[in-house]
Amino acid sequence: MSILNVKSALLLAGLMASQVALAGGASGEAIGFTCNGCHGYDGMSKGAAPSIKGLPATYLENAMRDFKSDKRPATIMNRIAKGYTDEEITAMSEYYASLKN
Ligand code: HEC
Repeated sequence: MSILNVKSALLLAGLMASQVALAGGASGEAIGFTCNGCHGYDGMSKGAAPSIKGLPATYLENAMRDFKSDKRPATIMNRIAKGYTDEEITAMSEYYASLKN
């Protein structure tokens, strides 16, 4: 994936995240649409981003919180994680954990 594609994916993820936030009470699945662009359909990656499908909810939740607080170094995810509330992080973590490999 070129730098340009990553940038437009980021922009798109940001735009979609703000629309979801406006709608209020977004489901984990709805939030997942913004993640799948990089992490693959259902979080099963074929590209540079790691697969997140079927990982334990606590693992995903901790990863997102650590990205959000810059505790875990990242190229992109720290910026993405900052766009979500704790409730949304819980919802998306439960959603990806519920998808079995
Ligand atoms: C623009 C591409 C992109 C988008 C959009 C994206 N990610 Fe990521 N994700 C990455 C990359 C690249 C990494 C590897 C860490 C890094 O360099 O940021 C990563 C890492 C992760 C990890 C750590 C996986 C592991 O094995 O520890 C999790 C969890 C994760 N992303 C969840 C999400 C969720 C949830 C969303 C949607 C809200 C999302 N990502 C959206 C690119 C993306």
